[in-house]
This record gives sequence, C-alpha cells and structure tokens, in this order.
Amino acid sequence: MPLDAPSHPNKDLMPRTWPEGFLWGSATAAAQVEGAGHEDGKEDSVWDAFARVPGAIAHGDTLEDAVQHYHRMPQDVAIMKELGLGSYRFSTSWSRVRPGDTGPNPAGLDFYSRLVDELLGAGILPWLTLYHWDLPQALEGKGGWANRDTAYRFVDYANDVYSALGDRVEHWTTFNEPFCSSLLGYAAGVHAPGRQEPAAAVAAIHHQHLAHGLVVNELRARGAQHLGITLNLSNAIPRDASDPIDLDAARRFDALQNRIFLDPILRGAYPEDTLADLGQFGIRDVIRAGDLDIIGAPIDFLGVNHYHDDLISGHPADEGGDGHSGGATRPTSSCWIGSEDIAFPSRGLPRTAMNWEVNPDGLRKLLVRLGEEYPSLPPLYITENGAAYDDVVAPDGAVHDGERTQFVLDHIGAVGRAIDEGADVRGYFVWSLLDNFEWSWGYGKRFGVVRVDYDTFERTIKDSGLAYARLIAAAKAPS
Ligand code: NOJ
Repeated sequence: MPLDAPSHPNKDLMPRTWPEGFLWGSATAAAQVEGAGHEDGKEDSVWDAFARVPGAIAHGDTLEDAVQHYHRMPQDVAIMKELGLGSYRFSTSWSRVRPGDTGPNPAGLDFYSRLVDELLGAGILPWLTLYHWDLPQALEGKGGWANRDTAYRFVDYANDVYSALGDRVEHWTTFNEPFCSSLLGYAAGVHAPGRQEPAAAVAAIHHQHLAHGLVVNELRARGAQHLGITLNLSNAIPRDASDPIDLDAARRFDALQNRIFLDPILRGAYPEDTLADLGQFGIRDVIRAGDLDIIGAPIDFLGVNHYHDDLISGHPADEGGDGHSGGATRPTSSCWIGSEDIAFPSRGLPRTAMNWEVNPDGLRKLLVRLGEEYPSLPPLYITENGAAYDDVVAPDGAVHDGERTQFVLDHIGAVGRAIDEGADVRGYFVWSLLDNFEWSWGYGKRFGVVRVDYDTFERTIKDSGLAYARLIAAAKAPS
C-alpha cells in the first residue's frame, strides 16, 4: 500500500502536531459486522427479530451473515494493522455473551477473547462498547428497556464481559447512542424493537441511563479505570434566530437530541425544560430516589459521534417537514415525541447518501460548545464520524471514493481546529472500518473505508482508507 505524503489540499491537516498519544482508530458494532447470527450458542437479539418483520429493513436484509467478521476476524485485524490504526472500537453482543439472557456462553466470550488477543498482538488498543443496540430478544419479551429490571440484567452481562476481558481491555464504553436505542426504537419504531410508544421511549431513556451508572460503579469497583459513554450529538440551528417559534423548536430538538443525555450523566440532573416537556409521557414517574446519583457517577471520557448538524424550524407547513432529521430515518412515526411540529429545512449544503448535510465546521463548534457548557466535561474522543456514499468499483477493482475521503479529512481538520480552540479531544475513530449492515437501511448504505463485496465478502481498502492510513502515518511520524 502506498504510504506517500498526503496530497490533500486541506491546509489545516498537515503539517499539524496532534496531542501526544492521540488515538487514530476505526469503529464497528457487533450486530453490523459479525454475522454468525445463530452460531456457537448465540440467540436472537431484538435486531434479529426486527429483521423478520416484513418491511422493517430495506430489501428484507438480515444480520445473519452481516460481513462475516466472526469468521474473518484475523483478516480484519490484519487490515487494521495495514492501515496503521492505533485503536479499534467494537462492541460485544449481549445475545452472544448471554444468549436469551442466561449464561454466560463460553463460546461467545471466547470470540471476543480471541479478538482482543489478536488486536493486542497487532499493537492495536481494544476500545470496547457493551451496548450497541442488540438487546437479547428474551429481555424484550419482558418489556425491554421500558422495564427497569433490564438495567440490572445489563450489570450481569457487563460483569460477564469484564470477567472474561478485564485483564486485557482498558477502555470500557457502556452505551452507544442511547438516543437511537430509546427514541428510534421505542417511539419512532424505525429501529428495533419497532415500538411506537412514547411513554416506553421515555422509560427506556431513563433505564439506559440507570444501566450506564450501575455499570460504571460496578466496573470501577472491579478496577476499571477508563469508563465512558458514547452519545450522538448534533448542533440544533434555528432557521431564523429572531423567530421565537424556530428558537423554541431548536430548544426542544436540542433537549431530546443532546441535553436529555448529557445533563444526567455530566450534571446528575435532567434539564428542567425537558422534564416539563416530557411530563405528559410520565418521565417523573420512572425516576426513583437515588437514581440520578448513580447516573451521574463520574466518567473518564465522553465519546462523541457526530455526522451532521440540523437546521430547525418550528413551521413544518412551510417546510413540507416530515419530522425526520435530514431524511435520515426511514419514514414511519416521529422520534420527536411531544415536538412533532419540528421541521428540518434545507440550507443548500451538499449531502451524503443518507441525505445528511456535510458541514465539517459543525463538529468544531460542537466540541468547543461542550467544553463551554459542561464544566465537568471529561476528555473527548470522536468515537464515530464518517459518511455513506454510493461507491463505484473501478475496472481495476479500486474504489475512488473522493467524496468520503474529503469528508473524513475535512472533519479531522475540524477536530484539529477545535483542539486549537481548547477542546480536549484525544482521539478520532472513523465510521466505519468496513461496509456493513446499516440498520433499517440494510446493506444499501456503505460507510466503510474498506469495501466489502457482498457476494464474496472480499475486502478492498478504498481510497478513503488509503488516505486515512497516510494521514495516520504522517501524524505519527516524528516532526
Ligand atoms: C451511528 C451508529 O452508532 C452506527 O451503528 C451507524 O451505523 C452509524 N451511526 C451510521 O448511521
């Protein structure tokens, strides 16, 4: 692989000195890449069950094989090494570790143990996420995240994973994007388990928070020193900052997208305006005495997933708004519970294949804003950033994904500018290492910096992956 000096025109990128120890990584999630959906004892997750619902997933795609990472793991780690990655962010599957929420399942844990050994052998730091949306279906049968007991079952699962891997894994993330596994899963119904019950979604938010705090305390007591959570955060930009209706819509969007997750974890309290807005869905009824002390347990890092910002209007009739951010979710009902009047007008920026706008400076603003608004903010890691585009395979088999390359390099440039402005960012993980199962979009949306041929499962590093490798090599080179 050519590792020449980068020729990218973005002058913010190179030469630049990155903070000592800055981590360069890539990310995946168990359900999206592993496959082996029912092998070695693994049982249904909510996503396996959801994929059997007619119309739930585009093209009727399933997770059964995904991209066969379960069987091709050593090859995938070799690709990571070739790219020069310093860290790999992956998730463990609850339904593989504790099928049917009984267990633990030694064969399932063995896979992750081999993965961790393979990574460490390649000099790659394992960055483990415990929950990336694949709840055992058996627990959904008992109410899923709307049932408070699920938070305590999450502690059992985390303990099993820690017992198996805690001697080698140092970085532990409790949840990935609880926004999606609560609001998209239980209110909009576009993610598993496909429920459209706003009160259940509100309960799911709180119970995931509780589960996070319980596991932070539990693993801390067992000796873990690097504990955090990953949130998907987005700037809410009022279309007309002098229009009180747009401003209020942006406030409510910001509450549901950002503050309802950030505030309990970083301040130990829900925002007052959110409690008032969601009162109709019983939010106060699910919060018990002492919960917020648990939820606000100190964390060592905050993972930030960022893909796009959102221009917000409170005038859906003017915008033809469908209540879906940038058309990102497949249309059914809205996740903006109690705020169905929110609309997402276009501001004419280029868009990715997800119809998400491209605006790298939004990432800089977000990172700077977090530091300004949260005095107890721990160090930040960009745990996901990347883009789906409709890739074309050239006659020689290469993928010249210039738009994705530009997207990734420009966003890394924005991270660099945020650091210059004082943001304490310590790493960047591109989403994703591999093309994979993009949830309700199935395999139709490709985010990988490595292409997967869905007939042969052959892997090919795309131009974006080559550019990322060159950037990593240059960033690590002595100045
Ligand atoms: C966030 C999620 O964590 C990941 O699973 C998903 O594939 C990407 N965003 C792209 O939508």
